[in-house]
Amino acid sequence: MIKNKVTIIGLGYVGLPLAELIAKNELYDVHGFDLEKIDFPQASTDPTTINESEYIIVCVPTPVKDDKEPNLAPLESACKTVAAQLEKGQKIIIESTVNPGICEEVVLPILEESGLKGGTDFELSHCPERINPGDPKWNVSNIPRNIGSLSKEGNKVVADFYRSFVEAEITEMSCLKVAEATKVIENTFRDINIAYVNELAKSFDIMGIDLLEVIEGASNKPFSFMPHFPGCGVGGHCIPVDPYYLINRAKQAGFDHSFLKKAREINNSMPAYTVELLSKIKDLKDLNVALFGISYKANVADLRESPAHEIIKILEEKGAHVHKFDPHVPEQNEHPTLEETLDASDAVILCTFHDEFAALSAELLVKHGIKIVIDGRNCLNKEAITEAGIIYKGIGH
Ligand SMILES: NC(=O)c1ccc[n+]([C@@H]2O[C@H](COP(=O)([O-])OP(=O)(O)OC[C@H]3O[C@@H](n4cnc5c(N)ncnc54)[C@H](O)[C@@H]3O)[C@@H](O)[C@H]2O)c1
Repeated sequence: MIKNKVTIIGLGYVGLPLAELIAKNELYDVHGFDLEKIDFPQASTDPTTINESEYIIVCVPTPVKDDKEPNLAPLESACKTVAAQLEKGQKIIIESTVNPGICEEVVLPILEESGLKGGTDFELSHCPERINPGDPKWNVSNIPRNIGSLSKEGNKVVADFYRSFVEAEITEMSCLKVAEATKVIENTFRDINIAYVNELAKSFDIMGIDLLEVIEGASNKPFSFMPHFPGCGVGGHCIPVDPYYLINRAKQAGFDHSFLKKAREINNSMPAYTVELLSKIKDLKDLNVALFGISYKANVADLRESPAHEIIKILEEKGAHVHKFDPHVPEQNEHPTLEETLDASDAVILCTFHDEFAALSAELLVKHGIKIVIDGRNCLNKEAITEAGIIYKGIGH
């Protein structure tokens, strides 16, 4: 084993910034292993690049299958690659999001096929990643981390390793399961709160109450209220996925997470609700609809689980002509510019509020003949658009 050799397995949204951050610390010799070719100085598609690393950090995807059951195939495959070269003294750290129990029930048996014993011969730790792509303040270098391991001594070593490159608090948890559970409850917390305001949006839309104003009012309570905002759906690799990991694991243990399932159901219903808002105003058959923002989040190009996919699908099923436009995913655009997309359309559905869409002023919409705006992120100027004679509808707004 080569002291301070670090290898990151899976150089995607999580693994690559982490590799870059650790590489800044001259103490470490940082390598990367990925199935794909990745632009990082010491990245390789050859698994032997992992050999003799003191720290191996696994950042591979943990998606769900079509039936929403966890898909552990990438994690299992990465662990088999690690097991093939495992040696005494190595620290294996899982950063991928998993449900409580996965490290000990799935990862550990694969690693121990090497003949070595976890917690004594090698350490197995979980340090859930909390990165928030596109966030100008919080990034891989300054977000506090929780770490759980098989052994207490190993946990301290791994925590100190993170302390050497993360400028934030590193908390040593009592065990792997607790560390695994922290990440899952963080993301289910968000899913449930968003589902709550999405449900309120539907109810307040019927009652004619502006939910945005209500949330603003409630937010001046200095304690016990945290604003969340309704929208056309929840996307990305985490929030719409991780709750299923907990739902699934608890089911195996004999518990039915009905509340989490309901939250998933409500958030999954928002794309259809968004299209319904438009169809109540105008028949969708042959309607030309500009769909702005295909990625799931403002100012990022990540398309995973984006509600825009479902919105496009429903619109097309109902006979609308969809003119997609996303400056962050230009290969999907139907027209080269925002203006040309507006020209081809009668209505707009805004799915993701990229900075470029701040240009969607009432004046511009009128100029290009837009008659209806469905604002899936409640970000456009409702008052000005309405005053300009365009029908505006937000989500609960
Ligand atoms: N993206 C986020 O915002 C975010 C935030 C927190 C946690 N997470 C979690 O981090 C993990 C990684 O997510 P991501 O967004 O970086 O995924 P990603 O798809 O961007 O990157 C994963 C990388 O792993 C590679 N890979 C897949 N299987 C492999 C294997 N067997 N061996 C080597 N490489 C392999 C892929 O080629 C890809 O480059 C997931 O568990 C996710 O839930 C993601």
